[in-house]
Amino acid sequence: MELYKELNFNELGDERGRLVIAEVPLNIPFDIKRIFYIYDTKGEIIRGQHANLNSEFVLINLCGKCKVKLDTGKEQKIVELDRPHKGLYLNKMVWKDMYDFSDDSILLVLSSHVYDANEYIRDYDKFKEMVVK
Ligand code: TYD
Repeated sequence: MELYKELNFNELGDERGRLVIAEVPLNIPFDIKRIFYIYDTKGEIIRGQHANLNSEFVLINLCGKCKVKLDTGKEQKIVELDRPHKGLYLNKMVWKDMYDFSDDSILLVLSSHVYDANEYIRDYDKFKEMVVK
């Protein structure tokens, strides 16, 4: 699996409204062990600022918008998540910053692992050292 991938979910629906499906393994490339969501984050705040030894993630901004700056150690990229049918897959060992949250942003995160503080790398220099090796 690549280090990151922008995901465009099919937008289903009919006259009753719209529907998006996230399903393993159809469009989510790992078994989901945890979900969490981030909201009520002020526009000037930067969240994330870490990489993970084991966890893979899919981020979907369900309402409003936010940006994700990802960093593989070799490449940096900014992805704007501004539609509920757009997602971003992040493999393990990808640094991520989430920022520019709109007031109404609800950022849903699907994860391959349960929470373990020990697998979080929060020191950017250490991350760089590990991925450059
Ligand atoms: P943090 O990793 O700083 O959030 P973000 O990456 O969105 O900026 O997490 C904030 C707090 O919540 C921190 O004390 C750890 C805790 N936490 C859990 O207990 N479980 C989880 O699944 C997550 C994502 C965070």
